[in-house]
Amino acid sequence: MSYSRRGFLTAVGTTGGAGALFATMGALGLAPTAEAAARTAFVPPQPSDFTLTGRAAKKVVVLGAGVAGLATAYELGKAGYECVILEALDRVGGRNWTIRGGDRLTELDGSTQTARFSDDVYFNAGPGRLAQWMVTVDYARELGVPLEVFTNANANAYIYNAGAGMAAPVRWRTAKADVFGYVSELLSTATDSGALDGRLTATDKERLITFLRGFGSIGNKTQGFAYQGGGRRGYSLDPGAGEQPGVTLGPVPSMSEVFASGVGQRFSFELGYDQAMLMFQPVGGMDAIPRALAAALGKHKIRLRSKVTRITDLPDGVEVEYQDANGRTRRLTADLCVATMPPHILARTPHNLGPDVQAALATPTVSSAGKIGLEYRRRWWETDEDIYGGITNTDLDLSAIWYPSYGYGGRRGLVVGYYNTGAQADAYAALPHRERERRAIEQGMKIHGAKYRDELVSSVSVAWKLQPHIEGAWVGWPSRTGAYQLLNRPAGHVHFAGDWLSYMIAWQAGALESARKAVTDLHQRVLAS
Ligand code: ALA
Repeated sequence: MSYSRRGFLTAVGTTGGAGALFATMGALGLAPTAEAAARTAFVPPQPSDFTLTGRAAKKVVVLGAGVAGLATAYELGKAGYECVILEALDRVGGRNWTIRGGDRLTELDGSTQTARFSDDVYFNAGPGRLAQWMVTVDYARELGVPLEVFTNANANAYIYNAGAGMAAPVRWRTAKADVFGYVSELLSTATDSGALDGRLTATDKERLITFLRGFGSIGNKTQGFAYQGGGRRGYSLDPGAGEQPGVTLGPVPSMSEVFASGVGQRFSFELGYDQAMLMFQPVGGMDAIPRALAAALGKHKIRLRSKVTRITDLPDGVEVEYQDANGRTRRLTADLCVATMPPHILARTPHNLGPDVQAALATPTVSSAGKIGLEYRRRWWETDEDIYGGITNTDLDLSAIWYPSYGYGGRRGLVVGYYNTGAQADAYAALPHRERERRAIEQGMKIHGAKYRDELVSSVSVAWKLQPHIEGAWVGWPSRTGAYQLLNRPAGHVHFAGDWLSYMIAWQAGALESARKAVTDLHQRVLAS
């Protein structure tokens, strides 16, 4: 009897679990690194799992065609499971939503917007970035979705803390030069004067000062380790040819002014495991991922505009009642169900899964987030300000302005004029779209001046708490015990999946990992039955 290498590994994985699988792969010389193993310890179900065991694939109804629901049906489909996805919206993707010219957006109060964007721009209203280590990258590879760099940090973008009394925005590069410079000056002085002798040997001190001189671009001991600015801050006249060395940006603010501005508190963001460069985005819009998943699993398996109205666990399966696109009530039975709707929407859906499940679904708190896409007739951030992608951060209620990481040097472009959360998002959500735009422009002009208003062509804004059938940006758990653990296990024939059941909430990677977990649990259950 001959085994294919993959079939053999799958058999080992199915019977022995991931540990045995990786030990075997190691023995075969296929061992991935420990880091890669952490995310690839998933073996998709496959037809041979049934043909070799004489079992039949089951019918599964998946609730929700967001990233978790699509991935669930896609992975189960690899083994021949018969999947149907019910989706309340008229599109796939859930919060992964790319808005283009002609698209309509309706909020819970019935107000509508129609995007007037030109052909070469799009607006990622939901997710906009992925980290290199995320499983999302693996799905993009598998599905043939091309990725490009998403610039999450740009030395030429700005920081503007108006509340700290900053007279004007400063470039990230300038803020870093000043903060690193003065911190290095202080620490070098303290080290050299013996203030840290209880902690450092003479050699440690020498090495620390060597590091700080480079890190902060500061003077030597004779110069008192002074930070005096320099080219890292930027130039008011760039270096040029011949006799033009350039003019460095001045004046250099005092140490006290730099600390008072609070710019340094922004720096930790780009060090986060989930936010550090490089980051990626799919070429042409984030919805390339759900679209590719839908195409791969087969669009006929997805029933759009089908709103789930009741979930009934049965002794030998599950029945889901839903309202179809024509408003008719329909019922569908299946062997198993994977519910990927947001927990707060599930909590409002009648079911017989018991009071504990109901209480658990109602446990997480729902967060707000909002974004506005502003299309400009010219790419002034590139031509006038040398900003090619990246993010400006501010304590104005915009919170962040994102410059596009695509279409450089093109004609028009789309800036995300705010991406805010919490109370800031709620404040914008409370306004009609025109007022959101007016407020965003008024605030943005404090950073970019009159062109921020004058070059605007059109805009669309999304308030995630007001999006029908979604009603939130993401959720938070009071703890990862109790309710969270309960919903990470099936309730009768109903399994749950979504970013809300992962440690990567508000990331597509969380939805994908959770889908893989639900698929694995469900498949093992079927194989054991
Ligand atoms: N994952 C979301 C972001 O990167 C929260 O903004």
